[in-house]
Amino acid sequence: MQEQHTKRKKAKLLVYGCQMNRSDAERMEGQLQEIGYEATEDMSEADLILINTCCVRETAEDRVYGKIGEIKHLKERNPQLIFGITGCMAQKEGEKLIQRAPHIDFVLGTNRVHELTRIVEEIEAEHTPHVEVGVAETELPALNAPVARESKLTAWVPIMYGCNNFCTYCIVPHVRGRERSRSMEDILQEVEGVVAEGCQEVTLLGQNVNSYGNGSEESFAELLRQVDQVEGIRRVRFMTSHPKDLSDEVIEAIRDGEHICEHIHLPVQYGSDAILKRMNRKYTVDSYRALVKRIRAAIPEVSLTTDLIVGFPGETEEDFSAMLDFLREIRYDSAYTFIYSKRSGTPAATMENQVEDSVKHERLTRLMEVQNEISREINETLKGRIMEILVEGPSKNDEATWTGRTRTNKMVLFPHKGEQAGDFIQVKITQPQTWVLKGEQV
Ligand code: SAH
Ligand code: SF4
Ligand code: F3S
Repeated sequence: MQEQHTKRKKAKLLVYGCQMNRSDAERMEGQLQEIGYEATEDMSEADLILINTCCVRETAEDRVYGKIGEIKHLKERNPQLIFGITGCMAQKEGEKLIQRAPHIDFVLGTNRVHELTRIVEEIEAEHTPHVEVGVAETELPALNAPVARESKLTAWVPIMYGCNNFCTYCIVPHVRGRERSRSMEDILQEVEGVVAEGCQEVTLLGQNVNSYGNGSEESFAELLRQVDQVEGIRRVRFMTSHPKDLSDEVIEAIRDGEHICEHIHLPVQYGSDAILKRMNRKYTVDSYRALVKRIRAAIPEVSLTTDLIVGFPGETEEDFSAMLDFLREIRYDSAYTFIYSKRSGTPAATMENQVEDSVKHERLTRLMEVQNEISREINETLKGRIMEILVEGPSKNDEATWTGRTRTNKMVLFPHKGEQAGDFIQVKITQPQTWVLKGEQV
């Protein structure tokens, strides 16, 4: 008994999906610390395992099912192990997850992140199988939860939850609920807090940050201006921007803000009107092109990145070739490219003329070839340039090579000569590549 009181309990959180999920996970970790858990990297010694899941594509779900299977053996060896599923798949599948894998103790939806402590404590107290499925929608999830941040240098700050856009391929609005914005006061308080603790960079998060405010007087442009002025802040980032609502006022706020980084992630998804319409994106190739023109006129140094989906139902070779032309015209700094994945319950899943897998893969390869060449050409133009980076730390493979990011969100690798994480340094770009820039401190 004595030992049980003194031994710290250990928790392992596995996190899949987007930044929003990682941000939620920080609020789960914070809650677990509050009730006496410390983080472990080793699942086999954990008293509690949580998987914060993503279901945006089938491949994301498959990875989670694989992990759920692995954890069954751990649970057999240690029946006291508490095993929970949270996040988007939890919201989508609810009880079905436990029916499929009875070694799961609880399923907690995206809207109820803040209830984690209560559920874990109840399960600990009962010491018997306890099944809880919480997926009902609440006002603003996770807000009052303590936050255990992944990084001391950069912080994610959610500004809104949910999505109202219902792109026809996308499951997110179904698992994250309707748009709800935090108050500006609340957001500023969190930003001031992290900056006071030494954070240099803040990323404002939402599925569509441009519609922040839900029609109230609090607009995203105003929020950017306010965050820019927080005492001591060095860099402000934000994502994601839906092209249909990126206003001129927001462009001006980015242009004028001293700390607002010159990077806009502006997913176009596709480069032909017929497909954009069937995707329900609510803009055309022309209006997107005009938007990019306005952005580049106001912020010449801007880096633009995007998300692209190949193999959407009905995609023809002509559509695809129009998309490649569009990429060559816009010239994104980089792109995340995805193969369309059918999500049941979304309109696109039952559309006619689903594209064959082999065709999807072949198009993805061609798409990546075109984009990689563009990324490389753009990076080539930076050779010899001196750029400011925020030093992050050693690179994955080599302790002597450190990484940092430019304001335009490009990763720079440089030989380490005593710089500290959190330093702002000037580097000269010596060897630009497709995905990273190599350079040295000047
Ligand atoms: N809210 C953001 C992104 C959310 S999901 C936005 O609107 O841009 C991230 C990306 O996943 C999307 O931009 C899209 O490119 C991709 N995606 C979403 N659903 C998908 C699906 N069913 N198949 C393939 N990719 C998908
Ligand atoms: Fe999905 Fe579209 Fe909402 Fe983005 S804007 S989360 S792609 S429905
Ligand atoms: Fe995935 Fe949910 Fe994000 S489905 S992409 S984790 S909002």
